[in-house]
Amino acid sequence: MNSNNDRVDTSVATLRHHLGARQPRVAVLLGSGWGPFAQQVQDAVDVPYAELPAFPALAIGGHAGVLRAGRMGDTELVVLAGRKHAYETGEPDGMKGAIRSLAAIGIQVLVQTNAAGSMDAAMRPGELMLITDHLNVVQRSPLVGEPGDQRFVDMSAAYCPLLRSQALAAAAAAGITLHEGVYAWVLGPQFETPAEIRMLRTLGAQAVGMSTVPETILARHAGLRVLGLSMLTNMAAGMDTQTLSHAHTLSTANAGSVQAVALLSAVLQAIEP
Ligand code: HPA
Repeated sequence: MNSNNDRVDTSVATLRHHLGARQPRVAVLLGSGWGPFAQQVQDAVDVPYAELPAFPALAIGGHAGVLRAGRMGDTELVVLAGRKHAYETGEPDGMKGAIRSLAAIGIQVLVQTNAAGSMDAAMRPGELMLITDHLNVVQRSPLVGEPGDQRFVDMSAAYCPLLRSQALAAAAAAGITLHEGVYAWVLGPQFETPAEIRMLRTLGAQAVGMSTVPETILARHAGLRVLGLSMLTNMAAGMDTQTLSHAHTLSTANAGSVQAVALLSAVLQAIEP
């Protein structure tokens, strides 16, 4: 297996074998706090990333590295538990093979979820935010080295306006508060300084996190529509007295996961792939 294309081809063949007659058009990428959603999937078939050579090998605890195919009501979907972060390797293309494999099996919508810090006093820890747009503060791209004109991807509606309005309507119908805001991608793994948070607020972002943006770029390049949902696990650095830690992020994420799972279930039944 010597090229990225071979890895994608092998992954696609393995996925097709496991999917059988299923034809999912929606993929959900689960971030911190969103993991329990996988238990909502009916008629589930699990494929470990280890069987999919285009998918990343994962090290960090809490990220399982499993693709689960199944359905929610009438919606066929695949759920990805586990993502490779740029802070693990310094490279932003860790999910490239996975996103390309999804596109090749016919996925048309990528629903991304993550944990983020809130930079807006009106958005409190445990609450949820719809990503309206992003800031690629890192200024790295997973498309560097790609051939062809297709690499010049239009990012003017990176997060699909139609999916966003469907998500807002689903949240309102379910009685779940869903804020809206711009997500700023920082490399991490260290948290930000208060001065960096002041900078990001000045630049127009309401939430900050260490993921999602590379996958959105990859998905747009592959022709997928994207929806992004953040769970706000903390006020960003300098915005309250809480010391930031990964343990604190995970414990707030776990506390918020019941509502996050309810939102995601409602959204998935409302969107039309
Ligand atoms: N900063 C960056 N990433 C994060 C944060 C934060 O405050 N909270 C959760 N992920």
